[in-house]
Amino acid sequence: MAASARAQNQEPRTGEAVADDKRVVVLVSGHGSNLQALLDATAEPGSGMTVVLVAADRPDAFGLERARRAGVDTAVVRPADHPDRPAFDLALRDRVAAARPDVVCLAGFMRILGPGFVRAFPDRIVNTHPSLLPAFRGAHAVRDALAYGVKVTGCTVHLVDEEVDHGPVLFQSAVPVEAGDDEDRLHERIKAEEHRLLPAAVRLVAEGRVRVEGRRARIVQPEEVP
Ligand code: GRF
Repeated sequence: MAASARAQNQEPRTGEAVADDKRVVVLVSGHGSNLQALLDATAEPGSGMTVVLVAADRPDAFGLERARRAGVDTAVVRPADHPDRPAFDLALRDRVAAARPDVVCLAGFMRILGPGFVRAFPDRIVNTHPSLLPAFRGAHAVRDALAYGVKVTGCTVHLVDEEVDHGPVLFQSAVPVEAGDDEDRLHERIKAEEHRLLPAAVRLVAEGRVRVEGRRARIVQPEEVP
C-alpha cells in the first residue's frame, strides 16, 4: 500500500520503534522534503525501519512540523545555546545517541558536524548533497553548478566523514541541466532523485550492508551480514 493510502486508512506509526525495527534519526534545517521521503518509506508496512527522532538546529525548520504530523519525537539543538562548535557537536551527539540510532541521516542539515559528533557514529551517518561530488561541494551546490555552466549535475548520497561533502559514495544520480533552468527548478529535479536514493541508502546502512574500504563503500548481500 502506498504511504498516502496507509495514512488515510490506518493510524500513523509513531516514533516508537516497532520491535526489531532499525532505528533512524534524521537531522534537518529546513523544508524537509527528504525527511518526508524517509517518513513515507519507513511508513510502508514491513519497511523494518522507524524514524525515532527528528532533530533540527533551528526551531522554525519545517521538517520539525513534518515529524510532529507523523507522530515522531523532535528535538531542537541550537548552536547559539552552546559556547562553541565543539560544545554544540557534543550536545547534538548526546541527544542523538539517546535515541539509540542504527543510522543517522542528514537530510538538508546545513551545519558542518565536527569530530565530536562524527566519531560517535562511525560509518553510520548518511548525507545527501545536490551535486555529483567531488564537484560543487558546499552550501550552494546547485547555484554553483549553474554558474559554472555544466550540462549535467545531480546528487550524491554518501557516508559522512570528518571532511565536508567528502565521505564514501553510496549512490549518485545524474540530472541534465535544461535550457531555462534557474536554481529552484533545477534543484527540484535533483531533489526528486534524492528522494529516491536517500531512503535506499539509509536502509542499506541500517541493515549493516555497507562495508567501507578506503574511499569505497561496498554493498554486500544480506547473507553476508553477520
Ligand atoms: C537537499 O537538496 C540536500 O541535498 C541539501 O539541501 C536540500 C534539502 O532539501 N543539502 P529538503 O529540506 O530535504 O527539502
